[in-house]
Amino acid sequence: MHLPVLLDEVIEFLAPQDGGLYVDGNLGLGGHSSAILEASSPGGKVIGFDWDEEALTRARKNLAKYSGRIEFVRRNFAEIEEVLQEKGVASIDGLLLDLGLSSLQLDAAGRGFSFQGSEPLDMRMDVRGGQTAADLLNRAAEEDLADIFYYYGDERQARRIASRVIDARRQALFFTTDQLVKVIEEAVPRRFWPKKIHVATKVFQALRIAVNRELENLETILASAGGIVRPGGRICIISFHSLEDRLVKRTFRNNPVLNPVNAKPVKASAGEMQKNPRARSARLRVASVRENL
Ligand SMILES: C[S@@+](CC[C@H](N)C(=O)[O-])C[C@H]1O[C@@H](n2cnc3c(N)ncnc32)[C@H](O)[C@@H]1O
Repeated sequence: MHLPVLLDEVIEFLAPQDGGLYVDGNLGLGGHSSAILEASSPGGKVIGFDWDEEALTRARKNLAKYSGRIEFVRRNFAEIEEVLQEKGVASIDGLLLDLGLSSLQLDAAGRGFSFQGSEPLDMRMDVRGGQTAADLLNRAAEEDLADIFYYYGDERQARRIASRVIDARRQALFFTTDQLVKVIEEAVPRRFWPKKIHVATKVFQALRIAVNRELENLETILASAGGIVRPGGRICIISFHSLEDRLVKRTFRNNPVLNPVNAKPVKASAGEMQKNPRARSARLRVASVRENL
C-alpha cells in the first residue's frame, strides 16, 4: 500500500475549490488526487499524469468513482505545458508534484529498484524508451559514473566503485541487480560500509535518478510552472532528495512570477513519520503565482 505523504498539508495549501482544475503531475496510486477531488467536489477536476502504466492502471481503479472529473495522462510531467496546449487548456488553478517512486514501484519485483534479490537492472519508471540502468553501467565512461554516484547518491566511495564497475564489465556485462551489489561490496572497504543503510543504497538511488532524468524533468516543469498556473493559484512540490529540494527552493525564490508561501519547507509530523517511513525525508514547498505583474 502507498500512503500519500503530507496529505492534509497539501490540501491546506492547494485549497482546492469546487469548479477548479488541478494537475497532479505524479498521480501514482491516486492518493493525493482523491483528496483533491473530495475537497473540490462536486465540480472540481483533476488531470493526473504518470508515465508508469502500472501506476495508471491502479489509479484508474482507485479513482473510478470520480469518473468524469478525472483525466488520466501517460506522459512525463515535464510535458505538462505541451499536453495542456494540446487539450486547449489555457491555465489551471493549482499544480501538485509528489516526486520520486511509489511504494508499489519500489516493492514490485522485477524492475531493478531494489538491491535485494536478483532482478534485471532496469530502473526505468517509463519502460517505453530510454536507457536502462544496465545500459548506463555498461556504456558510460568511468568519470561520468563516478560523478553520478557522487552527485546523485552523495556516495563518498564513488571513484572506487566506478573503477570497479569498469573492471567488472570487462569480464561480463551487467544484467542483474545482484551483479552490481557484489561489485559495490567488493569495491568499498568494510570500514567504510554505512551502519544504518545497505552499502548499495546510495548507488542504487543515484542510478535511478540518472536513468529517469529526474532532475532534468524537475527543472523543465519548474521553468514552465509559472505560466501554467493562473495568477493566485498554487504550486505544491514534495521532494525527497536535497538536490530536488534545492532546485525547488531556488526557483521559488528567483522566478519573478512566483511567490514562495513558506520560507522553510514543511515536514511531516512525528506521527506521520512513525506511520510512514517514506515521510521522513519528505519536504513540501509551496509557491503562489503573482497576481499583479
Ligand atoms: C511518489 S509517487 C506518487 C504517489 C501519489 N501522490 C499518491 O498519493 O498515490 C510518484 C509517481 O510519479 C511517477 N513519476 C515520477 N516521475 C515522473 C515523471 N517525470 N512524469 C510522470 N510521472 C512520474 C512515478 O511513476 C510514480 O508513480
